[in-house]
Amino acid sequence: MAEKKYDVIHIGEVNQDFTVPEVPEEFFTGNGDTYTCGIITDSVGGDAGNQSICVANLGDHNAFFGRLDCSYTGDRLAAILKAQGVDTSLIVRSEDCRTPKIIVNVRKDGSHRFLCGKGGGYGLRKEDIVPGTLDQTRVLAIGSLFVLDTLEGEGLEYALKTCRDAGGIVVADMTYDIRGLGPRFYDDYYRYIDYLVPSWDEASYVTGEEYEDRMADFFLDKGAGNVIIKMGSRGSYFKNRNKNFYADPFEVNPVDTTGCGDNFTAGFIHAYLKGMTDEACLQFASAAGALNSLGLGASSYIRSEEMVLEFMRKTRQRHIAH
Ligand SMILES: Nc1ncnc2c1ncn2[C@@H]1O[C@H](COP(=O)(O)OP(=O)(O)OP(=O)(O)O)[C@@H](O)[C@H]1O
Ligand SMILES: [Mg+2]
Repeated sequence: MAEKKYDVIHIGEVNQDFTVPEVPEEFFTGNGDTYTCGIITDSVGGDAGNQSICVANLGDHNAFFGRLDCSYTGDRLAAILKAQGVDTSLIVRSEDCRTPKIIVNVRKDGSHRFLCGKGGGYGLRKEDIVPGTLDQTRVLAIGSLFVLDTLEGEGLEYALKTCRDAGGIVVADMTYDIRGLGPRFYDDYYRYIDYLVPSWDEASYVTGEEYEDRMADFFLDKGAGNVIIKMGSRGSYFKNRNKNFYADPFEVNPVDTTGCGDNFTAGFIHAYLKGMTDEACLQFASAAGALNSLGLGASSYIRSEEMVLEFMRKTRQRHIAH
């Protein structure tokens, strides 16, 4: 196969995340007027943003392909992506895009609750997919199904086909159906997806199933190549037409679990590009997901492949009985 220009192109959502740590429980439950929290920071968020940064820090040539608005938010996010090693040359700055801003309220136990501001116009359009883009990548990464904005529909099919017809593979994450597209919206698209990586809740929403094995079967029956279901502190589950297995979670005391799924998916992509087995890919991905929880924010905590490998050497895995 001819050399590709990119290892990975990410399409999907990039947000400005405002991370609000140490939110007191009374903020959610009480009727007080004013509460205090830890130091509020802002950074890149959004599934495609988080994954792009992690893949770039792991050492792969990763480009983000989408729109950023023309305000200071767009300027700031483009600068952060670049500083983190993401190839920003495919980004389109657009007047009719409003980059979403998200407030991530982090509880003292490391769990979080999002408040999502309105945004839109940040997705690709079919006419953006010109020669030299999606035909030039080893992996097209979707971050995520349900937030592809202007690319939903015909444009998405074109994007997936363009990558695969040129010999690339598609890895698709999923997220909450915030726009109310409905659980069956992607039924005709799973056949173009080589690795589908939803969380347990997302897969349950789409399939209506309660067991990960049956969720995976739903997607395999619709034509997905391989299914990986992320199950938070309970690890993850892999299934294709030949085999299935669980990957145990690494033992951590999380500071902030925001973005664990994105860093897991990024870790998987990196391991896949290195030619690892499916089992080794899930091990590496599980480590990246767990390691991300040790820092505040959804991106940028993982600095290198060696940092993940060292974490794997030093950290035990908790065996989960299924
Ligand atoms: N508390 C935890 N302890 C150990 N590993 C974890 C923990 N949370 C997440 N992970 C690892 O990261 C993976 C992905 O996390 P999770 O299932 O929360 O994804 P997600 O719901 O897509 O998250 P998000 O969308 O917020 O990034 C898990 O499958 C697991 O391997
Ligand atoms: Mg996720």
